[in-house]
Amino acid sequence: MKINITPVAQSKINEVDMKHLTFGDVFSDYMLIMDYKNGQWQAPQIVPYGEINIMPAMCSLHYGQVIFEGVKAFYSKQGKINIFRLPKYHERMNKSCRRLCIPEISYDVFLNSIMELIKLERARVPHQRGYSLYIRPFIFATDNHLGVRVSMTYRFMIILSPVESYYKEGLNPIRLITSGEYVRAVKGGLGAAKTPANYAASLLPADEAQKKGFTQVLWLDAITHKNIEEVGTMNICFVINNELITPPLDGSILEGITRDSVLRLAREWGIKVNERQITIEEMIAASHAGKLEEVFGTGTAAVISPVGEIKHLETSIIVNKGKIGVLSQKFYDEVTAIQYGEKPDKFGWLLTF
Ligand SMILES: Cc1ncc(COP(=O)(O)O)c(C=O)c1O
Repeated sequence: MKINITPVAQSKINEVDMKHLTFGDVFSDYMLIMDYKNGQWQAPQIVPYGEINIMPAMCSLHYGQVIFEGVKAFYSKQGKINIFRLPKYHERMNKSCRRLCIPEISYDVFLNSIMELIKLERARVPHQRGYSLYIRPFIFATDNHLGVRVSMTYRFMIILSPVESYYKEGLNPIRLITSGEYVRAVKGGLGAAKTPANYAASLLPADEAQKKGFTQVLWLDAITHKNIEEVGTMNICFVINNELITPPLDGSILEGITRDSVLRLAREWGIKVNERQITIEEMIAASHAGKLEEVFGTGTAAVISPVGEIKHLETSIIVNKGKIGVLSQKFYDEVTAIQYGEKPDKFGWLLTF
């Protein structure tokens, strides 16, 4: 696959302080664009990062026919670039495409697009431990038409952003609250797809939680308001009586790649893993009985995010005295050691170049 490259007039690389990065504020010199028309994806192109022309009637602005992904590349101990679990992110991207009636993209095209971009942007992969290059592929519908219907044209893009470690001061436990009124997603809806609508639904409850002094919302299911689903933009795990429990992927939950990696490691380490529904009452009862050992979120941004406190209605519980648990720390250490090439990649999770 030949990708045409339009060179940047002047690289902005030296303007970026790679030692003091935030999340998602600076972008690389180049981006990739590939359009879909006449029933097929056209040739991709790499162009300087910058504004794109869109019309006010572009349907995805109005009806949200959009999907995206979030992948990371790491600078390894060996001085190479490691991309973590790329086929798995690609698989999830196409699954989101199917739910949103967006044409899928082959793994070859996805892989080549990312490889060509990163070859140009090697210097944008930060070298410090904990830092990485965040890769954001996304697809949006581009028909200029105000009737609600499946678009006939699309744009696939990839932008890159060097990002800092999620935790500057180590793995600080977060405080969660359930949302009485609002839900993130409903079974049969869009919850299992990585599409902006789910994030839009989360903004108001997340804002309310933050105003009450909590870090994120602990999402309960939309029908009974009892089953725990996710936390903020992460999957959630509980350690109760030495057993790792996480809600099953039953349609309203995003199929997290970090969740999958943690479950794989847990099984490898001989920890009992149970993917099953868990209600908020069961979790509170386990805490009161002294059996709730650890709670943590899993996601690409933070890897592991320990939970120190949970509030539901009038009840508050403190988890593991508000400190990170032994297992949470072990998962974090293991996954990041693999990502940075400090431990062998025995599951074949890395694409190294
Ligand atoms: C809603 C939601 N759940 C879970 C996750 C965790 O998924 P992953 O581990 O693939 O980043 C994310 C982040 O992508 C998310 O946005």
